[in-house]
Amino acid sequence: MSSIEKAGTFTLGDRTVKRLGYGAMQLAGPGVFGPPKDHQAALAVLRAAVAGGVNHIDTSDFYGPHVTNRLIREALAPYPDDLVIVTKIGARRGADRSWIPAFSAEELTQAVHDNLRNLGLDVLEVVNLRIMFDAHGPAEGSIEAPLTVLAELQRQGLVRHIGLSNVTPAQIAQGRRICEIVCVQNHYNVAHRTDDALIDALAGGGIAYVPYFPLGGFTPLQSSTLSDIAQRLRATPMQVALAWLLRRAPNILLIPGTSSVAHLQENLAAAELDLPDDTMVALDGISAAAASTH
Ligand SMILES: NC(=O)c1ccc[n+]([C@@H]2O[C@H](COP(=O)([O-])OP(=O)(O)OC[C@H]3O[C@@H](n4cnc5c(N)ncnc54)[C@H](OP(=O)(O)O)[C@@H]3O)[C@@H](O)[C@H]2O)c1
Repeated sequence: MSSIEKAGTFTLGDRTVKRLGYGAMQLAGPGVFGPPKDHQAALAVLRAAVAGGVNHIDTSDFYGPHVTNRLIREALAPYPDDLVIVTKIGARRGADRSWIPAFSAEELTQAVHDNLRNLGLDVLEVVNLRIMFDAHGPAEGSIEAPLTVLAELQRQGLVRHIGLSNVTPAQIAQGRRICEIVCVQNHYNVAHRTDDALIDALAGGGIAYVPYFPLGGFTPLQSSTLSDIAQRLRATPMQVALAWLLRRAPNILLIPGTSSVAHLQENLAAAELDLPDDTMVALDGISAAAASTH
């Protein structure tokens, strides 16, 4: 059994979480739609995460929809005292599996209540507002109206802390004028480093940066540099990719997703992998190589 304690901790809102967490999106059916193909296997992954020391789980009621939240409740409620479940709102699913922006006051309020009910909670610890001006990446535009709605739900006591997802630095600055922002969740990994400067700026403000697709997402990372370093360190490429993120900045919290207990154990063991300085230099070269092929 590995120890994820070695990855350290970070303060998320006013809770201490281990820097190695778990992202539940992969537990829904294909296309993040419908039930998992093996219900018991999905429950087993969640239970193995908590048994392995995870106390930070990322989810949303639009995974499924409603599927991952209900799995989390079934597998883990009554929840351990130290478990922090982070959810996100701002989208809904079409019958054709599409991801549709859902930013009206009514939709956002409904989403908070749906999350509360499906997770079986009285208050949501952290809610990310997922911006959908472009579903695939940050795009400029004012977030004032939806964030003001979420801040009001926070004042009502339904939400403890607020984060932002799929956002630009300008939107984060705008958001911080409206309410306290405790975390930012954007696409980032060893090969996709658009947010390098942002991560360091957020670290200065004590704001967590939670990369989504830390392993490459729907097309998992493939790189000869990752494979070579993994072989040298007697690790796997995915462990090297996670260890790189852990070393990249102290405010990075990991939520790698998997539907497999074996992959979960492998990912948690990344906490114990020390990357020598020369491997960090080589890994830094992956994003430059990826950029030159696009
Ligand atoms: N805010 C947003 O817009 C947003 C968007 C996407 C995701 N998220 C969150 O971020 C979390 C992480 O993202 P993600 O799950 O999409 O992508 P990810 O963590 O980068 O990668 C998941 C993929 O990698 C595979 N995988 C995981 N561990 C592996 C291992 N050790 N060896 C080989 N393959 C492995 C998984 O397949 P197996 O199931 O076969 O292991 C899955 O296909 C999600 O769970 C979700 O909570 C947020």
